[in-house]
Amino acid sequence: MKTHMDLSKFYHYAFPMQAIIVTCNDEKGQTNPITIAWHSPISKNPPLYSISVAPSRYSHNLIEKSKEFVINFIPFSLVEKVHFCGSYSGRKIDKINQSGLTLDDSEKVKTKYIKECFAHFECKLHNMIVLGDHTLFVGEIVNILADEDAFIDDKLSKKMTPCYYIGDCVYTTIKNIRKKI
Ligand SMILES: Cc1cc2nc3c(=O)[nH]c(=O)nc-3n(C[C@H](O)[C@H](O)[C@H](O)COP(=O)(O)O)c2cc1C
Repeated sequence: MKTHMDLSKFYHYAFPMQAIIVTCNDEKGQTNPITIAWHSPISKNPPLYSISVAPSRYSHNLIEKSKEFVINFIPFSLVEKVHFCGSYSGRKIDKINQSGLTLDDSEKVKTKYIKECFAHFECKLHNMIVLGDHTLFVGEIVNILADEDAFIDDKLSKKMTPCYYIGDCVYTTIKNIRKKI
């Protein structure tokens, strides 16, 4: 027997989703990090990746103006920093300073990446589409950097524990059980 569920919570059915931190630049070159759970690969050729950002976020203005962003894949060990960057706005505080996260120069975009993360997509804005109450920013990935030991044959190393969000301030990670079919 089926029962009716709350339509307004539809996105909970897709959880867990990997929580990433996106960095973006203001006009003075200051970096703002925002936590994003709604993101997805879009196209292999050209390599396109999308993030869904509400217009109320400070980062929304920054990406619209700078036309670039960096996707940072963060380990579960830094889950408090993930939550921090998703709980405060860069309009009011310097989240990089207060979180203790550190930055380094990207190679193909002006926006910096977060050193403590294990992989980074440098993206140039390809398209932005307003869809309902969020904007889908589609970035073309122009460069990827990653920790040397994070991937083996392009697959995530068993040692790595990405950070996943399951809603209502609860996070989890993957247990590395592998099965090749
Ligand atoms: C785990 C988690 C995932 C989030 N995912 C998104 C998302 O996909 N899109 C979005 O617009 N906001 C998302 N948020 C909310 C923003 O990260 C949050 O509003 C942040 O404070 C905005 O920062 P800013 O104003 O500096 O841009 C998420 C927050 C958390 C904690």
